[in-house]
Amino acid sequence: MNQLPPITDAFGRVHRNLRVSVTDRCNIRCLYCMPEDVEFLPSAEVLSFEEIESVVSLLARMGINRIRLTGGEPLVRNELPVLVGKLKSIHGIKDLALTTNGVLLAPRAKELKLAGLDRVNISLDTLDRETFHHLTRRDCLSKVLEGIDAALECNFSQVRLNAVSIAGLTEDAILPLAYFATQRKIELRFIEFMPLDGDQNWGQDKVLDGKQIREIIEAEFGELTAAPRDYEAQPSVDFRFANGGKIGFINPVSEPFCKSCDRLRITAEGKLRNCLFSLQEWDLKSLIRDGASEDVIEAAIRECVGKKKASHGIDSRDFVRPQKAMYQIGG
Ligand code: 5AD
Ligand code: SF4
Repeated sequence: MNQLPPITDAFGRVHRNLRVSVTDRCNIRCLYCMPEDVEFLPSAEVLSFEEIESVVSLLARMGINRIRLTGGEPLVRNELPVLVGKLKSIHGIKDLALTTNGVLLAPRAKELKLAGLDRVNISLDTLDRETFHHLTRRDCLSKVLEGIDAALECNFSQVRLNAVSIAGLTEDAILPLAYFATQRKIELRFIEFMPLDGDQNWGQDKVLDGKQIREIIEAEFGELTAAPRDYEAQPSVDFRFANGGKIGFINPVSEPFCKSCDRLRITAEGKLRNCLFSLQEWDLKSLIRDGASEDVIEAAIRECVGKKKASHGIDSRDFVRPQKAMYQIGG
């Protein structure tokens, strides 16, 4: 198992964190992500589990040690626990997590835990059935709540809720989510709406920023106290409630955290991306399928990271949105 030099970009950021999208498909249609009518990748264009395993094995030797499986919705991919087992056994991977909308989680939670999954993030933007239906264009809040309960019974090292906030839509969701999370002792994170919606409706005026959310929370729960980061490059700024519960804010728009970014992404179709907002991708799938040597794939990875920009530039006047939406990239 020969270790390779770490993957470092032009700004000295060492990359340790990999997001692997296992599918672009999803069973719901969040307004901030996927359009209602959408054409998915043909299955043959999606990386197989063996292809994912081989890229991750190489990346692990280059210093990647944390992996998050994303989508689309990763649980619509058949046999996901098989992939979890494969990735968990790769030398050097010390944390394996999943981001899911939770709809299909209840029947799969135990199997995922047994396969070696360490942590689960469940997306939940509101506890109000009608708002949930409006936001996701599907009426399945109760399934998500079942998924959360099932995950809590499985002894994952962490179960966390992710709530995307949209101005004019989710203000009333904030306090109920905070009560829900503190009562269940689940960590809650609010995420600012980013310009990655397939419908292209994003605008600065639709961003309910982390500061506003914090004010709403503090008016109800009292002052939050700063909590230490779990690891240096984590995107969220964390706090504790007076009762000990943890809450975090991911503010990519109002307070970009690009300076400490250690993340790389592989899309479901096997393209490597150095940023959510990158306009360029490196086609690892073609290299793998053409039988390229490991040295050639390693060089492509280093070139991709070498071209990473200092920051996403959402707030700059010449910002150009990527052609792809969140479900095509991986959250
Ligand atoms: N802005 C912010 N977060 C988003 N997500 C999906 N689309 C967006 C967006 N445009 C979130 C999902 C999920 C994670 C994968 O990313 O809600 O929690
Ligand atoms: Fe599906 Fe996640 Fe996109 Fe919502 S945000 S449509 S759950 S992929």
